[in-house]
Amino acid sequence: MAAIQAIRGMNDVLPDQAAYWQRVESVLVELFGLYGYREVRFPVLEKTELFARSIGADTDIVAKEMYTFIDRNGDSLTLRPEGTASCARLGLQHGLFHNQQQRLWYLGPMFRHERPQRGRYRQFHQAGAEAFGWDGPDIDAELIALTARIWRSLGITAASLQVNSLGDAAARRAYRERLLAYLSPLRGELDADSQRRLDTNPLRILDSKHPATQAVLVDAPLLRDHLDQDSVRHFEGLCGYLDEAGIPYEINPRLVRGLDYYSRSVFEWVSGELGSQGTVCAGGRYDTLVEQLGGRHPVPAVGFALGLERLVELLTLGDNENPSGVDVYVVVLDEAARLAATQSAEQLRDRGLRVQQHCGGGGAKSQLKRADRSGAQVAVVLGEEEISAGRATVKPLRRDAPQFSVGQEKLAAALAKFFES
Ligand code: HAM
Repeated sequence: MAAIQAIRGMNDVLPDQAAYWQRVESVLVELFGLYGYREVRFPVLEKTELFARSIGADTDIVAKEMYTFIDRNGDSLTLRPEGTASCARLGLQHGLFHNQQQRLWYLGPMFRHERPQRGRYRQFHQAGAEAFGWDGPDIDAELIALTARIWRSLGITAASLQVNSLGDAAARRAYRERLLAYLSPLRGELDADSQRRLDTNPLRILDSKHPATQAVLVDAPLLRDHLDQDSVRHFEGLCGYLDEAGIPYEINPRLVRGLDYYSRSVFEWVSGELGSQGTVCAGGRYDTLVEQLGGRHPVPAVGFALGLERLVELLTLGDNENPSGVDVYVVVLDEAARLAATQSAEQLRDRGLRVQQHCGGGGAKSQLKRADRSGAQVAVVLGEEEISAGRATVKPLRRDAPQFSVGQEKLAAALAKFFES
């Protein structure tokens, strides 16, 4: 019988990798808290209508990529392809937007039936932050500053910021007509995907990477020249805050997003080290989404989501040390030493040291080999000789330092000193 494999585009995280994930997640939790964002958790499954109404029926996500099925009650359900729609639904449903402003964050798996490739998966993970109830550009800048701090904390330098403004709905409608008037006579020169988008979502043609389409776009009208005055002021405000905060950015007039709910500011952080799927973080304003989902009053909102697989890849590409492994490996040379070894290991753990105790048999050589592979800094060796003398042998594994012997009652203190030096 053939062994069962995971579903294409859905990844397992193996122990060596998990340590990077934990590091990313703990930095995110800490930094979201540092900016006053509070966690929310929402279901992986939602009614299909939630995504159709928010992301937009003509977007690639809704038209082609959703995991949708009819459940046993006959309801159409969808595995969430992103978190913003659910976050807005959650806030509305629980009255969180009623005379209140909210800074929220979430983290978890999302699902899109895309063509898998490096950095693009069918199950992937996003961490997102969403701010509801503020309409000024200061909160947009705050979210961008938060992302900049995330890169700094993780030691990631290879991400650059692109920003743009999409204007309000009326400005986009007017621009859409201008763009259609320009592109329609040139339809034959566009790539097949862009030809299809001409009929569904023409603004998305702007971020086509296809050389022929890019050539056609050189003389296309720019959205920037058709923005409403409020959006222009808002965007200038955002750029001013970024300048003040010393966060470098590039204005990319072709930056449009793949989801329909955006208005005004949009932004992306892109890394050149990830191949074609280089966007590690993306977001923007969605001032009309809450009303679209049934809210009685408009709730201005802005947020971002970062792709954890891409972030983890950036970390593993850098010369960041793998944070996995233990501090101490306890080598147990014979059965007589096992009880003392277990007690020593527990005492070291009481002191906060990460300890792996050898289980099963094996000679000194093979146990020391395992100690080395565990990533431990030192091996603590306990055998008959040590037990009868009430001592332990400490063997440094990564430093060029001599092994030494220490009384068992002083082992924890001696190791603490060793790790400090
Ligand atoms: P998005 O651009 O669709 O936006 O996704 C955000 C990020 O999720 C991407 O920049 C990328 O890092 C990651 N991502 C998306 N699709 C995949 C995939 N198939 N495989 C791996 N990573 C992926 C949103 O989802 C919006 N909800 C962002 C937002 C929040 N806007 C406002 N608030």
